Amino acid sequence: MMHPRNKFLSYFWIISLTLLLVIISFPVNGKELVGLPQIELNDNDLISAIVDRQAERQFSTEPIALKDLALILWAGNGIKSPQVDSVSHATRTIPSAMGIYPIDVYVFAIQVEGLPSGIYLYMPDKHALQEIPSINVAEALTKITNQRAVQNASVVFLIAFHQEKSSRMNEKFAYFEAGEVAQNISLMTVERELGSYVIGMYYQEKIIEVLKEENIEPIVLMAVGKPLL
Ligand SMILES: Cc1cc2nc3c(=O)[nH]c(=O)nc-3n(C[C@H](O)[C@H](O)[C@H](O)COP(=O)(O)O)c2cc1C
Repeated sequence: MMHPRNKFLSYFWIISLTLLLVIISFPVNGKELVGLPQIELNDNDLISAIVDRQAERQFSTEPIALKDLALILWAGNGIKSPQVDSVSHATRTIPSAMGIYPIDVYVFAIQVEGLPSGIYLYMPDKHALQEIPSINVAEALTKITNQRAVQNASVVFLIAFHQEKSSRMNEKFAYFEAGEVAQNISLMTVERELGSYVIGMYYQEKIIEVLKEENIEPIVLMAVGKPLL
């Protein structure tokens, strides 16, 4: 005869296993769910960058390295290999419908080692910055957004699409591609132990006025800097 304690344990296991099976295959809205393997949050660089990414709005006044700025811009909109043709594959760090690449990234450099403070356009094909003659950066940022955290950032990016290029594609693709650029920027930022946050609150007409560029549709700003520990 089974000892009462063993009897209790076997009932316990039978009930637990039955419950587990019911939970795993419990229909939601009448539809069965397939449970997925648990996520192991290990040292994989990509997993860590995804886990560590968060909106960072407090920055130290330390400048960021020019090398980090270069890496972040490359990740966001850079070229991996020379372009073979207009619809070549794997030339950029992001995909683009019909290989049009309508996204432009402007750089409001406030505190970057070795880079004079100013407003620049990232030129992916040359992996270089082209200066945009304009007013002082701090003044420009005060005009275009009321988010105070941008004043402590080392750099603020403007992700915009170029209307001449985007007019050749479905406009929703241009928005989609801006999202890809923003995500790559935020993940590379984390990888470089920097912080970033996306800013949707800005004055569109002021951006156009500051950049003296009417052919762009601003989508988001991204402030980047060393997180205040
Ligand atoms: C399109 C977009 C616009 C955003 N605009 C702002 C903004 O104007 N100001 C702000 O403080 N945060 C802004 N955020 C950041 C969100 O508030 C933040 O991502 C959200 O609270 C989730 O937090 P997490 O990024 O730390 O996961 C924006 C995020 C996105 C994706």
